[in-house]
Amino acid sequence: MRAPATALILLSALNALGAAGSCPPPPQLGDPLRGLTPDELGRFAKGREVFERRFTPETGLGPLFNGDACGECHENPVGGGTGDEVETHVAMMRSDGVCDPLADRGGPVIQQHVTPALQAALGIDREPEPAEATARAARTTPDVFGFGLLDAVPDKTILALADPEDRNRDGISGRPNRFLDGRLGRFGRKAFVPTLREFNQGALVVEMGITNPAVPTEESIGGKSIPHGVDPVAEPEIDEQEMNAVDDFVRFLAPPPELPLDHEGERGRLIFGTIGCTSCHVPALRTGKAAERALSFQTVQAYTDLLLHDMGPERADICLGLARPSEFRTEPLMGLRFVDKFMHDGKAQSVDEAIHLHGGEGAASRRRFERLSPERRAALLRFLKSL
Ligand code: HEC
Ligand code: HEC
Repeated sequence: MRAPATALILLSALNALGAAGSCPPPPQLGDPLRGLTPDELGRFAKGREVFERRFTPETGLGPLFNGDACGECHENPVGGGTGDEVETHVAMMRSDGVCDPLADRGGPVIQQHVTPALQAALGIDREPEPAEATARAARTTPDVFGFGLLDAVPDKTILALADPEDRNRDGISGRPNRFLDGRLGRFGRKAFVPTLREFNQGALVVEMGITNPAVPTEESIGGKSIPHGVDPVAEPEIDEQEMNAVDDFVRFLAPPPELPLDHEGERGRLIFGTIGCTSCHVPALRTGKAAERALSFQTVQAYTDLLLHDMGPERADICLGLARPSEFRTEPLMGLRFVDKFMHDGKAQSVDEAIHLHGGEGAASRRRFERLSPERRAALLRFLKSL
């Protein structure tokens, strides 16, 4: 008669231990990574405030901009998430095959809005597109959960996955992109920008017209300088501490919590491998040594190789760096369940449609997907919806 009571006491003692923090609950969506120091958590909280802050012309917004806050676009379902904004990017493929992002003509990102002062001065309501552009592209707003971990993956890990000459003859090459100075790129749909920090610093100016110590000058207006008196706020419009805080917020955002897989989902995970999706959507990468312990030697289940793949002529738009018009970075599938418009331009309305748009190097695995029995196809989609 006494035994069950003892077991009960033992059980509640164990529960109390758990509640006391010996095993903290996993981070929820929008939470910071586990294992940050109190100082790092403070920087994350400060960064969230700047990320969500609505800038105005009086606090530095514009004169050209796409949105008034990082969190205006990256918002769904919480800050750092996806958004319904679709941007226009342009580039020129020169006759010698070199890609020109038209930076001196206002490219590659064309801002869709201007401040009232700029509108009054020039009579424009968006940045004009440069006449030299040979192609334009639509870019949906992706989520950035867990991207600090992608930032901490060593270059050599990514380069080891590359197979530019397709030596293993599986029809899939995987090429690294390179920034202007030759460093390996990994951020943005064309994997052009080497570090998350540089992307975040650039986004402040390119998306919001917020100059900062790393990028102290405003974007030109289609290559022309800003008329006098239109942007009275002195550069830089945010200081080093706030600039670093935005970067810390993005870097410390935890990956979306994993959803448990049922039997069908487990089957789907295996099918994802057997039909060749994992040739590009590499299930997990390992980070190297980072400045922060929470980012060091971690596994990130992002389902990407961070390399460029030729997705076929029908999907081609602009070039960027070494990326040809038809080449795109394997989109991470981490957070896929929060995406509602798929592929770089949002052309696909569902995961199923996104797979049907895999051409070029992705065509063979797409065909294997199309030949799956309805049950196996459903299992695969169930797995993908858990990401
Ligand atoms: C007007 C909407 C908008 C605003 C405002 C905006 N972004 Fe973005 N963001 C985008 C779009 C669109 C992309 C995709 C760019 C591409 O595909 O190359 C993107 C991409 C990113 C990426 C790269 C993700 C990847 O897949 O590699 C990061 C990081 C990022 N944004 C951070 C920020 C930060 C930080 C801010 C604020 C300083 C910001 N963004 C403001 C729309 C926006
Ligand atoms: C040759 C490399 C490659 C293979 C193989 C491949 N993918 Fe992709 N996948 C990509 C690239 C590159 C993108 C981004 C394309 C774009 O944005 O236009 C992508 C995008 C996606 C997306 C859209 C993600 C989003 O957020 O918009 C889904 C879903 C997806 N792939 C699933 C799959 C599945 C399932 C398979 C196997 C049937 C597969 N992929 C095979 C390279 C590949």
